[in-house]
Amino acid sequence: MPTQKINNSRFPTWPIFNEEEEKILSEVIRSGKWWCGAPEAPEGKYVWQFQEKFAKFQDAEFCIALSNGTVAIESTLFALGVGLGDEVIVSDYTFVASASAVIATNAVPIFCDINPETFVMDVNKIKGLITDRTKAIVPVHLGGNPVEMDRLMEIAKKNDLFVVEDCAHSHGSCYKGKKLGNWGNAGTFSFQASKVLTSGEGGAIICNSKELADKIYSYIDCGRKKGRRSYEHFSYGTNYRMTEYQAAILLTQMKNFEKQHKLRNQNARYLSKRLNEIDGIKVMSPTQGTSALGWYVFPFLFESSKFGGLNKEEFNKKLQQQGIPCVDNYPPLHTLACFKDIKLKSGIDYSNANWGEDRSNDRNFPIVSNIYSKSIEFPQELLLASTTDLDSVVEFIKSLQN
Ligand SMILES: Cc1ncc(COP(=O)(O)O)c(C=O)c1O
Repeated sequence: MPTQKINNSRFPTWPIFNEEEEKILSEVIRSGKWWCGAPEAPEGKYVWQFQEKFAKFQDAEFCIALSNGTVAIESTLFALGVGLGDEVIVSDYTFVASASAVIATNAVPIFCDINPETFVMDVNKIKGLITDRTKAIVPVHLGGNPVEMDRLMEIAKKNDLFVVEDCAHSHGSCYKGKKLGNWGNAGTFSFQASKVLTSGEGGAIICNSKELADKIYSYIDCGRKKGRRSYEHFSYGTNYRMTEYQAAILLTQMKNFEKQHKLRNQNARYLSKRLNEIDGIKVMSPTQGTSALGWYVFPFLFESSKFGGLNKEEFNKKLQQQGIPCVDNYPPLHTLACFKDIKLKSGIDYSNANWGEDRSNDRNFPIVSNIYSKSIEFPQELLLASTTDLDSVVEFIKSLQN
């Protein structure tokens, strides 16, 4: 049985910051420019700078910064014309936002089961979910692990569907030479507190179409048009603008991103190799063709019978008690009360959905249900620890087999 307790403080806590964040925040405060203003009448400077920098970093032509990753998905779908009566295919294994953003547009999410090795949307299952009401697909790159975007795009093109990549976990992830977010019509990012690039809250959309970028801008800035006066409102829009504080922090955090991203990738490879050597542990496999992963989370499966019958909660608790940061994964969307009991928007017909009441039975989503029953994840900051500390995690897990 385990003897030495792992020192919790050896694992980095997130976010990582220094006096630069304090300095830039005080500068924003003292400047009195707390919001970005409009492109032709700028108040602040950081939101505009961040948009340029993040677009470049993600190899995209356009970036629209906004309040968070949830409204990033909603805004993109809205700008693409997704709305009442439409269906949108979404991975079943994701945070609720990937589907609640669809609900926000008055469309209906349709849940797609996952690949048992990579834990992301199984592209082979998409065709069977397409109906004459399907308008878009929202692939979610869980943990930054790419959905097979080349195959997904073929299906989308053949069926005339929009694709909005949920890249909330995929900052810096690259599949077959193209950064995620550039495969579909747009990619949406989150900068919420636990994300690999963070400002506490925040989001961004990248795309390579000026027309779409302009439509998204109008939606998130009160229906305004670039180049026009600020009390002219040309279309329905809302206010999802990012603040100068968020952008200032993001610009500062970006300075360390590349170094952290490399370390997470290097450590993830090392930890995967060591954990996969344990009989009863299986780590999420990177999709073939992946050159870099965001590694927002590091999911792995454990076989209860190889760990003296410990169930998932007990296994998780043992790790936590040892000071190893780990959490449960997202419960599959079809199991969430809001979808199971159909507690959603009034006036919308959800009867065609493949979830709700009996349809939410696990037997209809066999792969994800099985994976979820055995899966646990390490948060990304564990991948910033030293090799020695990663070794101690592996040794502790091994000790649970005794
Ligand atoms: C896969 C996924 N999509 C979307 C979001 C929503 O992002 P936000 O929390 O910034 O609204 C999250 C947040 O955790 C997420 O994990």
